[in-house]
Amino acid sequence: MRRLDQLLSSLGYCSRQEAREVVKAGQVSVAGVVAARSDQRVDPHQVTLDGEPLEAIDGLLAILHKPVGYVCTHADGEGPTIYELLPDRWMMRNPAVTSAGRLDKDTSGLILVTDIGPLVHRFTSPRAEVEKVYEVTVDHELEPGLVDTFASGEIMLRNEAKPCLPAKLVITSPLTASLTITEGRYHQVRRMFASQGWHVTGLHRSRFADYTLDGIDEGEWRLLPP
Ligand code: URA
Repeated sequence: MRRLDQLLSSLGYCSRQEAREVVKAGQVSVAGVVAARSDQRVDPHQVTLDGEPLEAIDGLLAILHKPVGYVCTHADGEGPTIYELLPDRWMMRNPAVTSAGRLDKDTSGLILVTDIGPLVHRFTSPRAEVEKVYEVTVDHELEPGLVDTFASGEIMLRNEAKPCLPAKLVITSPLTASLTITEGRYHQVRRMFASQGWHVTGLHRSRFADYTLDGIDEGEWRLLPP
């Protein structure tokens, strides 16, 4: 059971003060009965606001299809952020919604956003070895030998002590490939290709763990059951 005003504010609907007004206006019902007080204790799953059940009560998890040009930080000054693509209400939630890992500004594709701290850890911890699939476009023709090089577990990135874990490269056309990695080092895909003499001109993440972008257009998001 939760206090109604505290529940509405933690889910980003309004401040605790505003909750009093919303309740007074008769917009909130509990188990089908119009709520009388904003400090009453309620079962969150029985609450409706303007006739709608509350959103993502037990934690929010969503897939966002990030377009090129958006940054994955909360900070201003580096261009538009992925958070501008999400409902304003999500930014008012407590705990805050954040991304599980990041994509470069110039990378498009699948990014998970959530307010469930342990999920962020589970998806980004190096030990979890979550599979990420990238569609890569490069500046000059790919060579078949790269498949073994990427699979070798011997690719060294500049200024790093340990080689990259084996990665699966599938060459799909002279200038495109699909790469599956289980790590998440800084600019990893671009740097892996750079280490072999290829410049990545286009990068798109098509899969993260078992999640794909099926049916989610660029700039759009979809809520998932947490
Ligand atoms: N690797 C990169 O180089 N960039 C990304 O955005 C993701 C993986």
